[in-house]
Amino acid sequence: MLKGDFPVDRFEGLRTPFYFYDLPLLRRTLDAVQAQLDRNPDFRVHYAVKANSNPRILAEIAARGFGADCVSGGEISAALAAGFPPEGIVFAGVGKSDAEIRLALSAGISRFNVESAAELEIIDGLAGETGQIAPVSLRINPDIGAHTHAGITTGLAENKFGINYEQLDEVLDLALRLPRVRYCGLHFHIGSQILDMSDFTALCNRVNELVYRLQRGGRPVGDINVGGGLGINYQHPNHLPVADFDAWFDVFRQHLKLPQGTLVHFEPGRSIVAPCGSLICRVLYVKQGTHKQFAIIDGSMTELVRPAMYRAYHRVENLTSGEPEEVYDVVGPVCESSDVFVKEFSMDKCRRGDLVAIRSAGAYGESMASQYNCHPLPDAFFFEG
Ligand code: LLP
Repeated sequence: MLKGDFPVDRFEGLRTPFYFYDLPLLRRTLDAVQAQLDRNPDFRVHYAVKANSNPRILAEIAARGFGADCVSGGEISAALAAGFPPEGIVFAGVGKSDAEIRLALSAGISRFNVESAAELEIIDGLAGETGQIAPVSLRINPDIGAHTHAGITTGLAENKFGINYEQLDEVLDLALRLPRVRYCGLHFHIGSQILDMSDFTALCNRVNELVYRLQRGGRPVGDINVGGGLGINYQHPNHLPVADFDAWFDVFRQHLKLPQGTLVHFEPGRSIVAPCGSLICRVLYVKQGTHKQFAIIDGSMTELVRPAMYRAYHRVENLTSGEPEEVYDVVGPVCESSDVFVKEFSMDKCRRGDLVAIRSAGAYGESMASQYNCHPLPDAFFFEG
């Protein structure tokens, strides 16, 4: 959405900061994902709920018939409440608690993405209590480094995620032996905000290698879940606001070498919801420091932690000023020096009361919000077009 298209006249009276969601853009994004699925009957999409679990956003996505990728009992409950069918829910996470496993079993989810041999045994035991058979996939750590921020790469051997791929045969044999689990396939996820498609090609090559190894050893393969991770353009939010799903799915179409009819599951989060969201804040003060000028806004790391946590860049736009640009450090009110959105950033001259949009905040914004400094959790405004 261009700066001038934000409906600022409808923001009067709303408590800032608040999340602004552009629903027509979300719908266009979901259409683009659906178009990929129409081309590939063996592909399945499970939206990664962790990216944004706002009930209204979840309901929009659930209504399209996609599945959900959850990482906690809370996310499973949120997904069910939003209308995702249990048979579309997959459940990953290195530390699934007994209560969460029981919840997932009683809901009848489609898959536990199991991250260790120890977890496999616990799921087997808990499923036995209710006479169920738990459907499991093994999450394999493929030891592939994605070219992204070190805090959001997950597929390296040094990360806590998944089963070391060298131990695959051993853990698979355990899964085949345990009476209360049913082995259904393999799961991978290499990281997030990945724009270099060759990282996904490397994942495909690893998957092919493991599948070949299993087949050669006479073991079952099952279906393949390649996780999420497709990045978006934070620098220029209006340039291709719908992520490049074609390029992403194309990598898997071209490079996966799987037995005919193998289902391939995807877990996009950020690419679906990041572009449609902005954090709308108000300028409180403009302050001249010794060497720089600060625009102090009422939004902070409590509503959007990504800049403070990963030094992530989000474009900031002054929605109500048309005055010539000046250079600012845009900062929030929290008592941490990392509570900075951007440094030395040129934007239209700020005055007290101006509204600013922090763009591309639809993913890992609201879902990571905190109440540090007793900040209330913000409201959301849904723009219908
Ligand atoms: N599947 C699994 C198993 C995951 O761990 C994740 C994200 C996804 C799918 C979705 O990945 P996406 O398509 O959104 O990249 N808070 C960080 C991102 C953490 C991602 C964690 N896992 C950030 O704000 O950049």
